[in-house]
Amino acid sequence: MNKLSNRIEAIQESATLAMAAKAREFKSRGIDVISLSLGEPDFKTPTHICEAAKKAIDDGKYFAYPPVAGYQDLREALAAKYQKENGVPYKAENIVVSNGAKQSIANAMLALLNPDDEVIVFSPFWVSYDALVRLAEATPVLVNGGLENDFKVTAQQLEKAITKKTRIVIFSSPCNPTGSVFSKAELQAIAHEILKHESILVIADEIYEHIIFTGERVSIASFPGMFERTITVNGFAKGFAMTGWRVGYVAAPKWIADGCNKIQGQLTSANCSIAQRAALAAITGAIEPTNKMVDEYRKRRQIVYDLLKEIPGVKANFPQGAF
Ligand SMILES: Cc1ncc(COP(=O)(O)O)c(C=O)c1O
Repeated sequence: MNKLSNRIEAIQESATLAMAAKAREFKSRGIDVISLSLGEPDFKTPTHICEAAKKAIDDGKYFAYPPVAGYQDLREALAAKYQKENGVPYKAENIVVSNGAKQSIANAMLALLNPDDEVIVFSPFWVSYDALVRLAEATPVLVNGGLENDFKVTAQQLEKAITKKTRIVIFSSPCNPTGSVFSKAELQAIAHEILKHESILVIADEIYEHIIFTGERVSIASFPGMFERTITVNGFAKGFAMTGWRVGYVAAPKWIADGCNKIQGQLTSANCSIAQRAALAAITGAIEPTNKMVDEYRKRRQIVYDLLKEIPGVKANFPQGAF
């Protein structure tokens, strides 16, 4: 009987990957396509990162299975970055490096959710969030931010959506797809709401943190009481033009990191050794290549925004970050 599991029947194919496949197919037929599907830089991975990967291969030391949660020096570097730049006192024990931020989110959901749980998803949202919730056999509850508030869900809206079944609240800031960025005050209000409920956790997806045009970059985990409640997700795909290298990570209280580690140990064993050496070079190396890319994205934002505004009947927000 050709019957897939109920778990798989409950989810759709990744919409962005399907669109990207279509664009590739058209291109292979010689059609001129501008693909706006995947969040994918059109820049190449900076040279110093590629060199680190080549060196790791030549060294001949990185051929074996890495530790499940990632190499210790990479986890230490990621923890140090969060301490210094984001004001969150993560240590290496809080970090689990995975095959992209997508796997990091999947690990966290599989580690934390039970079938009766609800996950509040701030909408518009990155298309994989609700699918990953369903894969964990929980229920996504979408809460819509309107154009009038720059597509951002307010603390009052969150308050109304919370039920006894709510286990996780998930959002990205800077947001894919809207480009909105939560201000410190807005995040504080959301944190305040979450802290009223003992069992609610937050997945804060910060993968676009480097692609920000406002200057204000705030991690919800940095607020009093929120370290214990937050699973911070980040990765190298966007800010370092490394989508194909597949390196992401969670930073979370140790008991949650341990849960992610356990799942990852069964699913993928670890993240690719060479990709991790490249990621270490990215996180400890020069940030100028990233800043150059951001300058270019800033110019493109203006061009696209101005063009959109010219279309009769179209309203647009002015994105503060992301692609
Ligand atoms: C908001 C958001 N989170 C996570 C991801 C996945 O990142 P990765 O390529 O590291 O799996 C994406 C990719 O488009 C994204 O837009």
